[in-house]
Amino acid sequence: MRVERASRTLGARVQGVDLGRPLDADTFDSVRDALNRHSVLVFPEQEVEPPAQVEFSARFGRLKHHVLKENLLPGMPEIYVLTNMTSQNEVAPRPYAGAYWHTDLSYEAEPAFGSVMYAVEVPEVGGDTMFCSMAAAWDALSERMKALLEGLTATHSFEHAYETFVKHIPGTAPIDRRRFDARPPVTHPLVHTHPESGRRCLYVNPGFTERINELPPAEGEAILAFLYEHCTSERFVYRHRWSRHDVVMWDNRATMHKAVPDYDDGDSRYMRRTTIAGSAPRG
Ligand code: SIN
Repeated sequence: MRVERASRTLGARVQGVDLGRPLDADTFDSVRDALNRHSVLVFPEQEVEPPAQVEFSARFGRLKHHVLKENLLPGMPEIYVLTNMTSQNEVAPRPYAGAYWHTDLSYEAEPAFGSVMYAVEVPEVGGDTMFCSMAAAWDALSERMKALLEGLTATHSFEHAYETFVKHIPGTAPIDRRRFDARPPVTHPLVHTHPESGRRCLYVNPGFTERINELPPAEGEAILAFLYEHCTSERFVYRHRWSRHDVVMWDNRATMHKAVPDYDDGDSRYMRRTTIAGSAPRG
């Protein structure tokens, strides 16, 4: 297995691994180690059927079933399909899914540890995914700012992304209120210690973070706006240009990501994602 860095602060390309077959224990440990070091791993030119994707992902932990049930692969609810394709009537199309900076499942008490995405179909141009390093972004803050942020907590909710981004997308169907009620807001530390690397990482995101609990709304909003601008500045970002049959795995404990919805209307993008359960972030 060869690991080559893809940017200054995060991301690496991994060669010499076949994810279509079970990995031996040493290779699996090397993949896990690479994920802890680089936060985003790209495995090019893979042939991965849904059962193999589930098998690989489940080596890291229990798999989550996404709240949007109409986007789960029939017969394999561990796989969440992100697609704009209306011709594939097995799942509902969602052309702009994830097109805002977010961290998967931060609206749950025990958010996702990692996600694994396989590119079945990619558009001719566009449709990249951007990732940013919340560890490098934390490291680069001044000591004064770190002292201000340490010990703060933030409220996260699934509804926030819907209200802020999703409902404004033309053609988006309203989400049944009961889905929001089933996922009440949760509180997480604004900075947490990565359980494996030991690095301090910011843990807020525009998608699901509603507010900073200990500050008046105007102050909290200003700080969140500053942090989002800071975290997504170019020096902390790896932008992945997809090729068909890439597998990309990311560590949600140390990153945010965003799908870039800039491909041609009618061009197809079809991704399969598995989401690995994690533990509550610790401040
Ligand atoms: C996601 O938000 O998990 C999907 C990102 C993408 O489709 O590029």
